[in-house]
Amino acid sequence: MDQSSPFSLAGKTIVVAGASSGIGLSICRSVVAANGKVIGLARREDRLQAMVDELGPESASCIKADLSKDEDIENAVARLPEINGYVHAAGIIKWGPLKFIKRQALEEIMNVNYYSMVLTLAEMTRKKKIKKQVYSSVVVISSVSALVGSKSNLLYTGSKGAMSAAARVIASEYAAQKIRVNAVEPAMVHTDMASEAEALLSREAVEKDMQSYPFGYGTPEDVANATVFLLSDASRWITGQSLVLDGGWLNLV
Ligand SMILES: NC(=O)c1ccc[n+]([C@@H]2O[C@H](COP(=O)([O-])OP(=O)(O)OC[C@H]3O[C@@H](n4cnc5c(N)ncnc54)[C@H](OP(=O)(O)O)[C@@H]3O)[C@@H](O)[C@H]2O)c1
Repeated sequence: MDQSSPFSLAGKTIVVAGASSGIGLSICRSVVAANGKVIGLARREDRLQAMVDELGPESASCIKADLSKDEDIENAVARLPEINGYVHAAGIIKWGPLKFIKRQALEEIMNVNYYSMVLTLAEMTRKKKIKKQVYSSVVVISSVSALVGSKSNLLYTGSKGAMSAAARVIASEYAAQKIRVNAVEPAMVHTDMASEAEALLSREAVEKDMQSYPFGYGTPEDVANATVFLLSDASRWITGQSLVLDGGWLNLV
């Protein structure tokens, strides 16, 4: 890519949480393809190292971190240089109807999906890690679940609704520093997490669901492409927004 293109990430360092698989890993690849540098965070060190080996140590590095733990957040943030962008793609999914929900499951999903996003950004803010006045960009990978009421999806939906809402508040707090914050809200994307969800359904139910997507299920690359746009200066007038990526699932009949 032409380095002077507004779509290029040349000269930018982007941190990706959840870089060891699925959407986060794909975002790491796309950041480097757009000439940026990436620092990946996650718990599985072997997977992070494979990402660094694939993308090359001149473009990629990693820090092992369990973002549900305060000490890991503090340690990871302390090791970061000044950055131009942060992507929060770390997350888990949990299912169950309301009557089976107990405090432990609620705390677990909120801790990984929502508290980790807020506490990582809070620590980065305290330690002044995100470059100001240059349209730096934060992208949180929320979900279209934040917008719809699917049965048995309360645990995940609540955490994603909180992420999208928090992104707007943080966008407002960061605006004077010309740091942008946006949420991406994908529907079904082929990853390990989606396979976990599909495993709970019959083959027929999965086929029927797929058919409700005019453009089919998404790929991690579909989410990565939109995320790279939001990280780049091409989107410098966009902040406080939520972008649905769903192959037409939500609005087309
Ligand atoms: N796939 C979909 O259909 C879909 C749709 C909408 C939104 N999303 C969202 O996209 C994000 C990525 O999901 P995915 O589909 O790519 O699933 P995935 O392949 O399972 O990736 C989840 C990532 O989160 C990391 N992670 C989980 N717990 C963590 C923790 N405590 N600390 C640090 N990292 C942690 C995992 O790394 P380690 O296990 O190595 O820590 C992994 O890199 C999630 O937030 C998910 O909710 C997915």
